[in-house]
Amino acid sequence: MSILRVARLGHPVLRQVAAPVPPEAIPSPELQRLVDDMLETVEEYDGAGLAAPQVHASVRVVVLTLDPEDGMQVWINPVLTPLTDQQLVTWEGCLSVPGLRGAVARPAEVHVRALDRQGQPFELHLRGFPAVVAQHECDHLDGVVYVDRADPRSLSFLEEYRRHGPWPWTDEVDGEDEDGDEGGEE
Ligand code: NI
Repeated sequence: MSILRVARLGHPVLRQVAAPVPPEAIPSPELQRLVDDMLETVEEYDGAGLAAPQVHASVRVVVLTLDPEDGMQVWINPVLTPLTDQQLVTWEGCLSVPGLRGAVARPAEVHVRALDRQGQPFELHLRGFPAVVAQHECDHLDGVVYVDRADPRSLSFLEEYRRHGPWPWTDEVDGEDEDGDEGGEE
């Protein structure tokens, strides 16, 4: 296993639409090594999640933690479907945009369909912060970075965010921003 170099904002790989993984390629040593390296990399950088394009691999693979108790999940070829018009505003960060935080509104509930690292299909229904992490990571597979969706006036350096924030942001729904901490980098 290796810790991989993380692409930063401005690297073209972050703007490409990543290719689906052919199901027959999932057991291959190359794909399994990529997954292992992504897991080691996200742990090293203490991220909430990591998408393959962030480590210069333009394929539809993400690793992410939905619940700190449960550890990292591996999703291959994930498809997300919003289940509500209700928006949740949270402060997001990204390993590809180090040192920055921004407020992003996203659907508060999503359905996920994906394959695990054995190639087995599964489905999930996510609500709240796990739904946000899922959308942030899967956006990377379409060349979208959270700063594209953030209210530009919310963007803050981490040091200033820690010193002066987090500010309540507009559109907060139901006070459902459950953590109130500074969030993780994804
Ligand atoms: Ni990210």
